[in-house]
Amino acid sequence: MKAIIAGLAVVGVMFAGSAMAADMPADGKAKCAACHAIDKKVVGPAWNDVAAKYKGQADAEKTLVANITKGGSFGWKFGTMPARGLGASDEQIAGLAKFIVNLK
Ligand code: HEC
Repeated sequence: MKAIIAGLAVVGVMFAGSAMAADMPADGKAKCAACHAIDKKVVGPAWNDVAAKYKGQADAEKTLVANITKGGSFGWKFGTMPARGLGASDEQIAGLAKFIVNLK
């Protein structure tokens, strides 16, 4: 019994720890995570790398909204992104674009 409780406490700490790093928002997990992660390339570029690409550009967020909405290729040479990922709504895309440009 004691061992079980100790085990649960360890799992709890692990979850708390991962929530502290920049975590993929729920919309991203649902619509984008098949191809993207924040800190590593999957099928598409790491979102940290996208943030770096647009760093300091005033219209970055607008550009990302447009690119995510229409999909296609953006010079990464990883392939083609489907329009709206796995079917994200305008509202979800706006939220995700904001999240991505604010990564560092
Ligand atoms: C089926 C795979 C797939 C899914 C799902 C997907 N992407 Fe992508 N994404 C890609 C690929 C591949 C690229 C790189 C295209 C290239 O080579 O230029 C990319 C590129 C991007 C870029 C870089 C745009 C730029 O201007 O450089 C952003 C931002 C992005 N994706 C966001 C998202 C978001 C947000 C979602 C979810 C709504 C999503 N992606 C879902 C495959 C995917």
